[in-house]
Amino acid sequence: MNEGADDGGGGAEGAARSLGCGRGGDGFVPSALGTREHWDAVYKRELQTFQEYGDTGEIWFGEESMTRLIRWMQKHKIPLDASVLDIGTGNGVFLVELAKFGFSDVTGIDYSPSAIQLSGSIIEKEGLSNIKLKVEDFLNPSTKLSGFHICIDKGTFDAISLNPDNAVEKRKQYVKSLSRVLKVKGFFLITSCNWTKEELLDEFSEGFELFEELPTPKFSFGGRSGNSVAALVFQKT
Ligand SMILES: C[S@@+](CC[C@H](N)C(=O)[O-])C[C@H]1O[C@@H](n2cnc3c(N)ncnc32)[C@H](O)[C@@H]1O
Repeated sequence: MNEGADDGGGGAEGAARSLGCGRGGDGFVPSALGTREHWDAVYKRELQTFQEYGDTGEIWFGEESMTRLIRWMQKHKIPLDASVLDIGTGNGVFLVELAKFGFSDVTGIDYSPSAIQLSGSIIEKEGLSNIKLKVEDFLNPSTKLSGFHICIDKGTFDAISLNPDNAVEKRKQYVKSLSRVLKVKGFFLITSCNWTKEELLDEFSEGFELFEELPTPKFSFGGRSGNSVAALVFQKT
């Protein structure tokens, strides 16, 4: 398989394997990757590694996935004071990139307290003080979480899709939460390795329309070719 340009920290392929991507025609196999316990244990470990060695841990879909999103924001002249929410921020490295680029109203949420602790430690080490962090379950967001111009998802909808306990309902709830927290005409940027472009269009058909598809690395294998990662920008209607 040729993954092309996605690079760094395990890259697209590493992320794809870890998120159980490349599912067959039978749909998703429920997995621990869809549970809070799994992610909390992952980030507890990563927090310890960060404290001991200063290693920030895995960047899902590689460095290029962050550059791709920031490039899009730059191309569309998204104002630097636009409010940006990173849904399921993990180690918060994307928040750091946004703040370093100049975005001044950046919020990261995650349902794993260890992820938020790790993000906080990384942000503090970077000397950045104006990033907001909250432990929040996006499937049951607090009323304070609202009015965002931009929402970002890198691997979180994928993880939720693997939840062993009624993932279909959880996906619907995700779309409802997104509708609630994003402003009308606001943008939703999703990067996924579990869903194709067509499937994502279907999942987000109510209340959102496709604004742009972002180029991602191509693979070719056994005479077939395609994209291993989908990156789409939706706009709330
Ligand atoms: C594949 S990781 C991606 C992390 C990060 N977005 C990145 O690109 O490195 C999925 C993240 O989603 C978080 N997550 C999963 N379900 C969530 C939910 N219902 N609410 C908030 N965060 C959630 C997990 O804790 C984990 O940090």
